[in-house]
Amino acid sequence: MENKSIKNIHWFPGHMKKASNLISEKLKLVDFVIVLLDSRIPLSSYNPYLMDIIKDKKKVFLLTKEDLSDEEESLKRKEKLSKDNDLALIVDFKNQKVINDILNLINIYIDEKKEKYLKKGIKNVSIRAMVVGIPNVGKSTFINLMAKKSIALSKNEPGVTKSVRWIKVNKNFELMDTPGILLPQFKDKKSAINLALLGTIKEEILPLDELFTSLMSFIKKYYLKEFNLRYKTDFTLLDKDEYILEVIAKKRGFINKDNQVDNEKTIKVILNEFRNGIIGKFTIERVEDANI
Ligand code: G4P
Repeated sequence: MENKSIKNIHWFPGHMKKASNLISEKLKLVDFVIVLLDSRIPLSSYNPYLMDIIKDKKKVFLLTKEDLSDEEESLKRKEKLSKDNDLALIVDFKNQKVINDILNLINIYIDEKKEKYLKKGIKNVSIRAMVVGIPNVGKSTFINLMAKKSIALSKNEPGVTKSVRWIKVNKNFELMDTPGILLPQFKDKKSAINLALLGTIKEEILPLDELFTSLMSFIKKYYLKEFNLRYKTDFTLLDKDEYILEVIAKKRGFINKDNQVDNEKTIKVILNEFRNGIIGKFTIERVEDANI
């Protein structure tokens, strides 16, 4: 892909600045930060700018969309992220029991804090966390699940221009939901492609055919078997992308009125099936790719 094609991607630095200022401002109110990462793109959903702001806080990394990602890769990523004082968990927010798993993990921090305060003669301690994540990572789903579990009505803390929402999950634990959009900060065009492949950034930002080429090169490298199973085909590594597209378009009847293959529609359908885990459970950014 030529650099030209991603030149138009702008990350609304204004929004980004607002969100990160709010995070810096409120950070002192919490004991730790819950960082949501999409388990399929843990590198591109990891915002280095944000990580710098929260570097001195303990972190719980939630690797979201477990049901859509490669289990082995998620486990490896979890290992990598669970270091120093940080904890990590692979989560599927479609499964209600996930909340108990998260609360059990958070108990580790609560126990640590209890022990520390007990030495000072303080018995009742509670812990507070801030939740951060890029769009589409599952932040609202997580907050809603937690809010349902809460024992008290959530309260708003008014600010001059913005507010944060506190959710009292139980007597020991309160969660802060920060409004604002925290955009992924992609380091290179590979990140942009990965975010577009999963629909985190609008696919129109990149030419569809380039996106399809990237998708096929990833599929051919790791998941050609699953792809063939889904489309009842027997493509090999030697098959060109145009041929693959043509075969699938014909199978699905995506032919336009001039009797031509409707490439755009075919690519959109394949991308949609890919994103929704219909082709298989895939992890795009793999542990061997880079360190985070
Ligand atoms: P955000 O606030 O971080 O932007 O993300 P949000 O919670 O809105 O989630 C984005 C999409 O991801 C939603 O789908 C949501 O249902 C889905 N999602 C969240 N967590 C999981 C998960 O663990 N597994 C799967 N498979 N999907 C998850 P949507 O299509 O935008 O909306 P809807 O289908 O919920 O109506």
